[in-house]
Amino acid sequence: MSEKIVKEDIASIAKALGKDVERFAGKTILISGGAGFLGKYLVGVLAYLNDHVLKTPCRVISVDNFITGTQHPHFDYSHREDILNVWGDVSQPLPVREDIHFIVHAAGLASPVYYKKYPLETIESAISGVKNLLELGKKNKGLEGFLFFSSSEIYGDPDPKAIPTPETYHGYVSSVGPRACYDESKRLGETIATIYEEQFDMPTRIVRPFNVFGPGMGHLDHRVIPMFTYQALNKKPISVHGDGAQTRTFCYITDAMTGFLQVLLKGKNGEAYNIGNSSNEIAMHDLAKLFTEIVPGASMKMIPYPDTYPAGEPLRRCPDLTKAVTDLSYAYQVDLKSGLDRFVAWARKEPGYID
Ligand SMILES: NC(=O)c1ccc[n+]([C@@H]2O[C@H](COP(=O)([O-])OP(=O)(O)OC[C@H]3O[C@@H](n4cnc5c(N)ncnc54)[C@H](O)[C@@H]3O)[C@@H](O)[C@H]2O)c1
Repeated sequence: MSEKIVKEDIASIAKALGKDVERFAGKTILISGGAGFLGKYLVGVLAYLNDHVLKTPCRVISVDNFITGTQHPHFDYSHREDILNVWGDVSQPLPVREDIHFIVHAAGLASPVYYKKYPLETIESAISGVKNLLELGKKNKGLEGFLFFSSSEIYGDPDPKAIPTPETYHGYVSSVGPRACYDESKRLGETIATIYEEQFDMPTRIVRPFNVFGPGMGHLDHRVIPMFTYQALNKKPISVHGDGAQTRTFCYITDAMTGFLQVLLKGKNGEAYNIGNSSNEIAMHDLAKLFTEIVPGASMKMIPYPDTYPAGEPLRRCPDLTKAVTDLSYAYQVDLKSGLDRFVAWARKEPGYID
């Protein structure tokens, strides 16, 4: 049942992408962070395209150093010849000798608890990672697309007048604060990607995801939806940090992954795109309340911010998606309750989610 959810999600992403995916036929795609949450889906979608859509299969090279990444049976492609899984650290140059047509740099430390724990690795994966992969791309004359996974965090704690936040907002970010290792390295990663586009005419595109969730996020991920799900399923009180008034917009994986691949395939070179769901903005205490409705017997409590969590989180976050809608025909479909129902149904069958 839970694997069925993943399979349906992957099929729906492939369907939403339509004919644009034909550009992947016969091409080689390198994905960094392939054992992460988004990387697992990227590989899964390409495997599905090979099985069901493309006349000539693509080849996938998935690279990860497993600092937080995991293997999961619902995303196990180890038996396939079209998908190569390798251990590799993108903070060092990768010894890839074959022709590459698309590069997706999704390696990173995405969860605040982990980037607080590994601040230097966070910086290295973004900055050395993007530079090494761009250098690799530069050697490939047939490179058609390079996608850098930045973050909505590059906006910092936006001016209320800049919410919903468009790509033109420059951000309000501390260079020395507790979140700086993540925010600032994503910002510089974007700068590096745009310089390679300007100086070497490379097809670099940037995506700024706004809080994506879905199956494949492990119970130890520490991001809010897996954490609330783990607590709710184990009848532990759902712990809301602070006063719970801070908001986020949550985007279900099928919508987000469609958007990411649209940026890779159709985005303008050197440009950044917000991807998320601007209708799903919710305060954390309301999100916890929603979990008490979805999971019978779940309860909630307010707690001070734990020391493991980086202070200074943005109070409100919501994307302006006009650019992605206009340039890429991006259209999100999944409301928060439907997405959470799917995620909780998947997590219920996951051994790690039940103590
Ligand atoms: N998921 C979201 O909501 C979200 C939001 C904003 C930005 N992003 C960005 O998107 C990308 C993917 O996000 P995710 O949710 O899949 O994150 P994730 O943490 O689940 O996965 C990232 C993967 O990168 C790997 N990694 C880290 N450093 C590496 C290195 N030096 N070399 C090779 N592999 C390395 C990790 O082991 C992990 O498997 C990240 O760069 C993240 O910052 C994600």
